[in-house]
Amino acid sequence: MLGQETVKVPFLGAVVSVRGSVVDIRFDEHLPPIYSVLCAGGEGQIVIEVLAQLDARHVRGIALTPTQGLARGMAVEDTGGPLKAPVGKEVLSRMFDVFGNVIDREAALSDVQWRSVHRAPPPLARRSTKSEIFETGIKVIDVLMPLERGGKAGLFGGAGVGKTVLLTEMIHNMVGQHEGVSIFCGIGERCREGEELYRDMKAAGVLRNMVMVFGQMNEPPGARFRVGHAALTMAEYFRDDEHRDVLLLVDNIFRFIQAGMEVSGLMGQMPSRLGYQPTMGTELSRLEERIANTDTGAITSIQAVYVPADDFTDPAAVHTFSHLSASIVLSRKRASEGLFPAIDPLQSNSKMATPDIVGARHYGLAQEIRRTLAQYAELKDIIAMLGLEQLSQEDRNVVARARRLERFLTQPFFTTKQFTGLEGKLVSLEDALDGCERILRDEFKDYQESALYMIGAIDEAKGKPKVGPPAAPAEPDSKTEAKAAPDPAVKSTAKSTPESHPKSGTKPQPKVEHAADTHES
Ligand SMILES: Nc1ncnc2c1ncn2[C@@H]1O[C@H](COP(=O)(O)OP(=O)(O)OP(=O)(O)O)[C@@H](O)[C@H]1O
Ligand SMILES: [Mg+2]
Repeated sequence: MLGQETVKVPFLGAVVSVRGSVVDIRFDEHLPPIYSVLCAGGEGQIVIEVLAQLDARHVRGIALTPTQGLARGMAVEDTGGPLKAPVGKEVLSRMFDVFGNVIDREAALSDVQWRSVHRAPPPLARRSTKSEIFETGIKVIDVLMPLERGGKAGLFGGAGVGKTVLLTEMIHNMVGQHEGVSIFCGIGERCREGEELYRDMKAAGVLRNMVMVFGQMNEPPGARFRVGHAALTMAEYFRDDEHRDVLLLVDNIFRFIQAGMEVSGLMGQMPSRLGYQPTMGTELSRLEERIANTDTGAITSIQAVYVPADDFTDPAAVHTFSHLSASIVLSRKRASEGLFPAIDPLQSNSKMATPDIVGARHYGLAQEIRRTLAQYAELKDIIAMLGLEQLSQEDRNVVARARRLERFLTQPFFTTKQFTGLEGKLVSLEDALDGCERILRDEFKDYQESALYMIGAIDEAKGKPKVGPPAAPAEPDSKTEAKAAPDPAVKSTAKSTPESHPKSGTKPQPKVEHAADTHES
């Protein structure tokens, strides 16, 4: 099972007890140190990592493979070293599991070194920081929460709000342009997604600068817990030995925390807040601190973070937030309104969004966009209770601008062509800023909101219908359901009266929400 080189030491132990993934082993002559890897079973197919020394003769370890077939009294061999990952030029374009075995059905590796996956983060003196923007081609990110080259960005969101889609789109947009190496690490997510990504990357011809490492949801907690370390070991090799920049993509870092929780529970440690392991902070920072920039190269990382029950105060989310330089928060409400990517601009942030880094114009525009969206958010309650017509003209203009901005900041993705039927769009920062500026200057106030929905650069809205006579039904100008024109609803919003509220049940629903809801109907 273990593809890696192992130094055979003639120390044999015997299994004392097996409880699920937890195995106790007795060694009479020598006690293997913590993190030693032990092998058991006929072909050494059961791999165990030592996590505790119980007494002078016994160690307790967690199996990184299923423990089927393991029985008391069976011989266990100490490999004499920790878990190792293969590094070298040959790992490029390959797909690995946590043990460094190739899983892409291609030839075996011949010329690689094996390094321990347990490594210390670079010391403070070797770290470097630079403040360069990493363009993604996704309007809302580049304008409002620009990513940092060599930074860590998190994509936060509950189940099914589009984390994987957004991450895949970023891979699509960036891997081609990025001259460094890209490493994708799949932790505890679906095997299907891993296979699809591999196939897509192969078809796109970008695999030759890419490495994939998977410990997906079908694997035991021990494997999911260590796969991130294996991927980082490869990333560190490219940074430190080959002096290349690395793009590290992780889906999903929450699964790493969750695997740690399972391991901790199995090892019999007391749970801490909400059942998480007491060592969560340490485990996460050991991993995250290794994602660092040094004088030799930078590791830029983008991590999807599943947020349990959409609760952003969950300890796992809170701990992860603190490691990141940009947080992109996906909101379920936006996803349900069809506003994809479902990024909530008011909750997301980036430390790059300062005038010194992005420049005065970009900063000024970003602030104005945020202000407009925030004012709209505040006005939503009033609109829900009293209707749009109760607002002052100035407020109504704000609402119109904000709604047009929201639509303009949606974007068709290359990776969702099969759901939306729309060709993907890559938009330069310049075009995105230009579009937002022109909307804020009311250049598009005569256009239907739908003209701005799911487009690339703003000029695509030109030529789409302007606001017509109320009788004219707005035509959905694409096959996509999501595009079912929001305009009739927009007009009804404008005309909506408080009497129409009882329809929506006991709690008055904001009228504008209905307008937006039509996106998905
Ligand atoms: N940008 C988008 N455009 C169109 N549809 C989208 C977009 N993003 C997400 N979706 C829709 O949302 C669904 C779920 O997205 P995705 O698989 O990325 O969610 P997730 O956040 O990764 O979920 P999980 O936590 O279950 O992994 C997609 O299958 C797609 O239908
Ligand atoms: Mg996902």
